[in-house]
Amino acid sequence: MKVPFLDLRAEYAGLRDEILPALDRVCEKSAFVQGEEIEAFEREFAEFCGTKHCVALSSGTAALHLGLLALGVQHGHEVITTPNTFIATAEAITYCGARPVFVDIDPCTANLDPILIERAITPRTRAIIPVHLYGRPADMDPIREIAARRGTRILEDAAQAHGARYRGQSVGSLGHAAAFSFYPTKNLGAYGEGGALTTNDDQVAKFARAARSHGQTARYEHEFVGFNYRMQGFQGAVLRIKLRHLHPWTTKRREIAAEYRRLLVGARVNFPVDDSRDQCVYHQFVIYVQNRGSVMTQLADRGIETMVHYPKPVHLQCAYSSLGYPPATFPHSERACERVLSLPIYPSLTAEQISYVGNSVREVVGMK
Ligand SMILES: Cc1ncc(COP(=O)(O)O)c(C=O)c1O
Repeated sequence: MKVPFLDLRAEYAGLRDEILPALDRVCEKSAFVQGEEIEAFEREFAEFCGTKHCVALSSGTAALHLGLLALGVQHGHEVITTPNTFIATAEAITYCGARPVFVDIDPCTANLDPILIERAITPRTRAIIPVHLYGRPADMDPIREIAARRGTRILEDAAQAHGARYRGQSVGSLGHAAAFSFYPTKNLGAYGEGGALTTNDDQVAKFARAARSHGQTARYEHEFVGFNYRMQGFQGAVLRIKLRHLHPWTTKRREIAAEYRRLLVGARVNFPVDDSRDQCVYHQFVIYVQNRGSVMTQLADRGIETMVHYPKPVHLQCAYSSLGYPPATFPHSERACERVLSLPIYPSLTAEQISYVGNSVREVVGMK
């Protein structure tokens, strides 16, 4: 049996009859950049997140960048985040001329450890970026309490967490603003690059709308130097269709995760812990294993593709060597990166594939 890590072609086969007419509508209107489909998507995604505003953008990285600028992050500031993330989280901080300040993760959740945040706050701290890694909400109540008490802003990195809920409240509405990615492999993926900023703050939304289009507030009126961070019309059309399927897709992801956990009871693996009060949307299903290289090879020999998210924490990337964090600074993140392994998880997986993956992992890693 073959189990690819992701199968976007199977997804397209089920959506083709909806997608092609929608793309045709964009062509007929020549609405290739922004336009009606984008405006409709913004309304629908804001409603989905329970926020007042959604500003569609060209990528999740652009959303992080404009989110930070909108929250006032600039040269000389510090922004606290996790090193156990995709590098874009830190890059957006650097784009603002600010310094990423990393704090370690809670090894049980792979997300920021709130207790460590407080110790990292200095007078230069302007914002905190909790990342809802793998679709599992970060522990927002203590983070919000610290941020309120210490006067810092919160930008959620919700790139992997469309539809996740923390204590019943939608991810994307938990901080001052939130950045989503619609990169094709995401739970809600465009057919190209895409991202969005969600917020309840009128000023943040107003800034992001102008900043995404060269600081323009009226045609050829440029109030400040902005960017070209606009979303393409095709992406809005695709995202509107896929948003309507997202709920059942998320349910399927959660069912697959539950089945993997059941099949792996007693096996020599660990998992991040789910809080029963929250809803993880399983962008990735990760396990922690010893001898990862060998486990990956043995699974590949059985036709099962796996991936690593991520093999190296951001503070140990060459790009961030100038920050001066030596190895062992963030032991939980470093240990997670050494052992983490992502198994295939997507709605078109069949029951046979799910059992095959779970049983194969159990055989390969052995029992405790
Ligand atoms: C946690 C996280 N942050 C930010 C990004 C950046 O999003 P994009 O690739 O859309 O720029 C991604 C996506 O790859 C991500 O996974």
